Order: sequence, then structure tokens, then C-alpha cells
Amino acid sequence: MEGTPTRTGRPGAWPNALSLRNLRTASGLVLFCFVAMHLLNHALLLISLRQAEMARSLLAAPWRTVPGTVLLYGAAGVHVSLTLLALYRRQTLIMPPAEFLRLVLGLLIPYFVAEHAVSTRLGFAFYGEVLGYAEVVRSLWITSPAMGVQQTIALLVVWTHGCIGISFLIRHHARLRPAFPLFLAGAVLLPTLALTGFAMIGRWMALQATFPGIAMEIYTPELERMANVTMPSSAERAARLATAATSIKIGYICLVAAIMVLRELRLFRARVRSIAIRYATGETIRVQPGTSVLEASRANGIPHYGICGGNARCSTCRLRVTASAGALPAPGPAEKATLGRIHADSGVRLACQLRPRHDLSVSLMLQPVTPRGTAIEDSPVESPREREIAVLFCDLRGFTKFSESRLPYDVVFLLNRYFVIVGEAVAEAGGRVDKFLGDGAMALFGFETGPEEACRGALRAAEAILRGSARLNQDLTEETGVSFDIAIGAHFGPAVVGVMGYGAALTETAIGDTVNVASRLEAVAKEANRQFAVSADLLEHAGIRPDETTLRSIAIRGRESEVRVGLLSEADLSALLDPRTAEGTAA
Ligand code: FES
Repeated sequence: MEGTPTRTGRPGAWPNALSLRNLRTASGLVLFCFVAMHLLNHALLLISLRQAEMARSLLAAPWRTVPGTVLLYGAAGVHVSLTLLALYRRQTLIMPPAEFLRLVLGLLIPYFVAEHAVSTRLGFAFYGEVLGYAEVVRSLWITSPAMGVQQTIALLVVWTHGCIGISFLIRHHARLRPAFPLFLAGAVLLPTLALTGFAMIGRWMALQATFPGIAMEIYTPELERMANVTMPSSAERAARLATAATSIKIGYICLVAAIMVLRELRLFRARVRSIAIRYATGETIRVQPGTSVLEASRANGIPHYGICGGNARCSTCRLRVTASAGALPAPGPAEKATLGRIHADSGVRLACQLRPRHDLSVSLMLQPVTPRGTAIEDSPVESPREREIAVLFCDLRGFTKFSESRLPYDVVFLLNRYFVIVGEAVAEAGGRVDKFLGDGAMALFGFETGPEEACRGALRAAEAILRGSARLNQDLTEETGVSFDIAIGAHFGPAVVGVMGYGAALTETAIGDTVNVASRLEAVAKEANRQFAVSADLLEHAGIRPDETTLRSIAIRGRESEVRVGLLSEADLSALLDPRTAEGTAA
């Protein structure tokens, strides 16, 4: 199958895309603030003209200072330039509707606001004209209503573009999501109130101009004055400003057209220069030289594992190169290290790191269990992913000895009471029990929450398990004369999370270093005869500053660096989680 080239820019040939995106967001936020202040000012017309004029001198003043002007025009220049750059770099203009709308509105903004910006900002800069509401409303409502309609459209274009951008920002930042309803209310209310204020004053001015003596008692003196104001620009100045605005608009249209032509040229050159990647499964795709094979697979709908997100850490994207029309780039240090860990031979490469510049044939070594054309994300068996989670292990100490001397019924009875304690503690703390194994349990936190909540959940669960086991011990002592101690270990870090197993035994679980460390910490708690061994990483992510002097450094087999561990009792843990000592440190 011939695929479509999906990436035509040479990787690394552009400035860092992330920083450009951040710059675009930051400049967009500056402009959004400016427009929001503008609208807020217009909305004050509903209260009174005087309030609006007073607020205008306050709200507009910062933007008329030298730093304010530099910030505003700098942000506008940067934002427009980056929008045009993004247009030039786009591989396709097919995109989700909201993204398309944002792009089109963004491209229309300079055209629509040119007139207004020139008459207000250039009029101020070159002729010292400061237009008040009286002049502007009269001009847009009475003298030139067509211009008023154009400015209203401009306002809606600018505002809608900004709101789409902000909603994308909120969608991509979990912490901002709770603010979405508030943002939505502001997004609708602010322009509605602003346009209503503008229309109200405009209509009253028109009425006053048509019937000078009518209903004078309901007009304020300001409105009467407004009905008679004229634009301060002379006809000659106005003509000059109009010419400047027209020139800017024509120049902008030419610029956008030139960018579209250059983009087509770039795509054409890219198509001519593309290389072929052939897969052992029979597919062939064409991509730009220098595109990583993993990017190429994903962009062309070929299922290809890459759990660590292309960071050369997991090796799940590995492939065997079966033929190459030219020399391959040598593996970098990160790729070498990972390939070394899995003892790969020289024909094996990491697809996320391999950026071929010649035709290539490859065979994927880990075949995702999804049919061709199905996104891995849509598979019934979810693709494993790397994510940061908190892992908790707990275990009954001395239980094996107890079980050897009791009837199995007693053992089952006791275990079930213990499992209820663990299960309820984990569920109430927002985690999930991954498995019960003998007298041990493993629980995971952070599938649906961020790191801090995951870590605090693990701590709360540990506290509840210790509290519950104390109650259980009381009952057991009365009923059977025995009691048990519990050892808990917990750690936070990256783990590979995915559905594993077969048939009815399919279950989402986690594996990796973080799980091993948590399990080891449970053993550390036992060895030290303490109830809870928790890593400093988990405490720190829970927002608790561990007291360094109380931490131990523990070596873990197969791990280069030691783990800093705090050994806690139930009382220590309760003190840490007590809101009154939330700002405190782990003793
Ligand atoms: S995606 Fe993990 S090593 Fe390539």
C-alpha cells in the first residue's frame, strides 16, 4: 500500500516546536487579556457613559505606555507570525472542525482589525488623537454604520478565535478543567454585554441627533454632548489613515497568498524527495527522509508499540532492519544503552530513534495485537502505556506459621476479613486493588488522578489498613488469642500500565521498576520491624517534605541508585496526613 507522506519538514531543522507553541500560547493570552479588557470596558456602557469613560482611561492607559505598546504589538506580531508559520508547516488542511475554525478566524483577524487599529493607534501615534466613546460610537453607529457592522464582525471573530484557543488550553491541562464552566459563562456574557452597551448608546445618540428636543429629561448631559461630537481627524488625515489601513489589508492578503504558494511548493518538493519504508507485513509507506520510523508508522495508521512515547527507554518499538538502500544513522547513546539492556544484535534498532535517509525494509519485533488499520487505542486489548502511579504492597507478617497450625476454614475466614479491610481502604482512597496473593495485596493509585492525589491516596490507604488491622487484632485476640502485624511498602514513579492476561483473566495491571521498589519496601518494613516503609519520592509527590535526617538509603537489586525511605508507624502516618500538620515535614 502506498501511504501518503505525512511529515515533510526535516526533523531538527526547525526551532523547538514546543517552545514555539508556548510562545504562541503566551502571545495569545496577552492579546486575549487586551480584548477582554476592551469588552469589559464596552460592557460598562450599560451602567453609564461616565463609568465607561473613566474605566477606559484606566484600562487603556497601561497599553498606551511604551512597555504596554511593545507588549501588545509584540504579542500581535509574534502571534500572527506563528499562525502563518503553522499554516506554512501544515501537512494537510484537513483537521477537526474546531481547529479549522480557529485557523480561519485567526487568519481573518488582521484583515478585520486593520481599520480599527489604524484609526485608533496610528491616529494616536502620529496625530495625538485620542478617541473617546463619543467619537467612536458616533462614527460607527451614525456616520458609517457599515463600518460599525464590520467592527462587530471583527470583534466576534477575534473573541471566538481567542475562546477556541483558551478552551483547547483548558482541555489539555487537567488542573484548569474545573474552571471551564466559569470560562464558558464569561465567553458568552462578555461580548453580549459589550455589544448591548454599544448598541444602547448608539441608539440613544441617533435618537438625540434626529429629535434634538425629545425626551431631554431622560438623557444625561453626556449623551446630549455626544450627539454633536465629530471625529477630530481632518478629511486629509482621515484619508491618510484610510489609505494606510487599505495598504495593510492588501499587504496582508498578499502575504497569506504567498505563504499558501510556498507551502504548496514545499509539499511538492517533499513528495519528490520522499523515501519508502517497507514493512514485513507487506505495507509500504512514503515519508520524508529523517522521519523516525515510529512517527512514520503512527502517521500512516500502522500499529506500532512505543510505550515510553519515543524516549528510547522501553524498547517496545524495536524492529529488525532487513534491507537498506544506504547507510543508516548510527544509534545515539540512549538508543545504544537500551539496545544493550535487551542484548540486541546489530540488526535491531529502536524505531523511535531510527531516522532513515534512504529506502528501508523493516520487520517489527513486537506486533501489537490489533488488526491492520485499527488504532492501537481502539483495540479491545489496550496498548500498554507508561504512566506515573503510586504502588502499595501490604502483607500479614507471621501468617504462614499461623496457617500451618489452623484449619483451612479458619484461614479463609481470617483472610477474608483482612481483604475487606484492604479493599475498602484502597477503594475509599481512590485506588484499586490490583491483586490479592496469599496473605499479600498490591494496590495501584493514579489511574484517574494526578501524581499528588495518587500519592496522598496511597498514604490514606496505608493509614486505613493499619487502623483496620488494629481493630481486627483486637477481635482476633479475644476470639482466637492471636494477632498479626502488617507490613506495608509504597513507592511512586513510572510504570508500564496495560491489560495483561488471557480470556477471563485479562486485567489491567502495572509492571516495572516502581512496582519492584514498592514490593521491596514492604520487605524493608518487615526487616526493620516497622509498619510502613515509604519512599521519599512518594512523600514529596504527596506534598510532604520528608525530614532528610530520618530517611534511610536502601539499595534495590537491579537498580543503580539507592532509594531514600522513611520508616513510619501508624501514628507517624496519621500525623503526616492530619491537615493541621499538612505543612509539616515527615519525621
Ligand atoms: S518508544 Fe520506547 S524505546 Fe522507542
